[in-house]
Amino acid sequence: MPAPGTTPRSAPRIKSPALLVAESGADREGHGLKRTMGLFQLMSFGVGAIVGTGIFVGLSDSVAQAGPAVVVSFVLAAITCVFTAFAFAELGGAIPVSGSSYSFAYAGLGESTAFLVGWCLLLEYGVSVSAVAVGWSQYVNELLDSLTGWHLPAVLSAGPGDGGVVNLPAVIVIAMASVLLVRGVRESARATAAMAVLKLVILVLFCAIGFSAFKDGNLTPFSPAGLGGIGAGTTAAFFSYIGFDAITTAGEEAKNPRRDIPVAILVCIGLVTLLYCAVALAAIGAIGGDQVGGRPAALSYVVNVVTGSSAGGAVIAFGAVVAIASVVLAVMYGQTRILMSMSRDGLVPRVFEKVSPRTSTPVAGTLIVAIVFALPAAFASLDSVVNLCTIGTLAIMAVVNIAVIALRRREPGLDRSFRVPLYPVMPVLGVAFCLYLMYETGWTTWLQFAGFLAAGLLVYVGYGRRHSRLATGQAARDDAGAADGAEVTDGAATATRTA
Ligand code: ALA
Repeated sequence: MPAPGTTPRSAPRIKSPALLVAESGADREGHGLKRTMGLFQLMSFGVGAIVGTGIFVGLSDSVAQAGPAVVVSFVLAAITCVFTAFAFAELGGAIPVSGSSYSFAYAGLGESTAFLVGWCLLLEYGVSVSAVAVGWSQYVNELLDSLTGWHLPAVLSAGPGDGGVVNLPAVIVIAMASVLLVRGVRESARATAAMAVLKLVILVLFCAIGFSAFKDGNLTPFSPAGLGGIGAGTTAAFFSYIGFDAITTAGEEAKNPRRDIPVAILVCIGLVTLLYCAVALAAIGAIGGDQVGGRPAALSYVVNVVTGSSAGGAVIAFGAVVAIASVVLAVMYGQTRILMSMSRDGLVPRVFEKVSPRTSTPVAGTLIVAIVFALPAAFASLDSVVNLCTIGTLAIMAVVNIAVIALRRREPGLDRSFRVPLYPVMPVLGVAFCLYLMYETGWTTWLQFAGFLAAGLLVYVGYGRRHSRLATGQAARDDAGAADGAEVTDGAATATRTA
């Protein structure tokens, strides 16, 4: 007879939403993470995680593919995200725990899918930390150049794939973020909110400057590479939306997660879509798509051309440096919390759930994440890591849409503060859009992704499956102990929000 809350050996290992919430302590006052985040903090955390390298650096790649029709690409990427945002909003409201899509997959589709989602989250969060840090490096050099006329040589500011040796600034920003995350807490919560506001102000300022020089003629031809260009541009633009789901990792720290998480996700996507389209139109309208496409630190360049001085470009570069650093911080935070959830479940080693009594943060887990993802940041090219993040994130998003359908069938009575509208059309379209964008990433990326998934399966079979606490009944015993008033001993019980 299996222990309550667990499943027999032959059945799929599925964790009920009630068990996930009970384990996290999210439904008990005085247990679990501290509930400090209101709607504004959740939205600034979202903007902090979303707006960064994608718009400041990746815009020039999307424009190179799609031309002025990049606005259509942004809207298509946003539609893909909105379908999935509804799914995240439903699940984030119904299962307010910090494991995000990993926990949703555990409840909806079972342990092996959840493990693979967690594994893909290493691409969405971990590898994107590396990609975002590489983008940061471009603007640091641009800022140095505008302020001093000197910049770091390529050997120290780019990996071998981009004509250098080691990307030192990329490593430095990861190191700085890990120091903030390890110290914790209030400092970095405030830093994240301040950085989110600053980057919005800088991008609005950019739009004002770009639109002041707007010429209609720069928007023609509107779609020089046709539908193929728009499709490729959409895949490139998608990277700039990655991170919106990080809001659901705050499920255990939000004051009113069931109401505020759905609202924060949808507002953030709407806001950044408007902003991205405005930035793209302002940039192309000011100097033409040919001048923007493929140019490093393109936004600074546009402002330099329009204002005729390098001072404006320096302000934008400063904004980019701050904006992108905040993405590194928020995304690294998300990665440590997801590993914490997986560690609680026994699927990855327990070092990831240990919280330092001194700082109340997962020090060892944060340092491991920093070291592992500083390596690709130091040595890989931006393009190679961006595509892998994109395909991994899209795969996760497809699974989350499927989890909505699975949970509606299995748990029709679950308390859902938000329900996906037009069900099941929305989640089905969500899966279709994700698959289309995955297809657009190209076969090299598919091969890399297949290898990555195969490695994940090996780790699951070799480690996760054997150590799973759901299988051993440990989870249920912990839950019973916690419900009886015993101290919850895992790390998350004492950790506090660090971003
Ligand atoms: N969306 C994040 C960025 O653009 C990953 O930097």
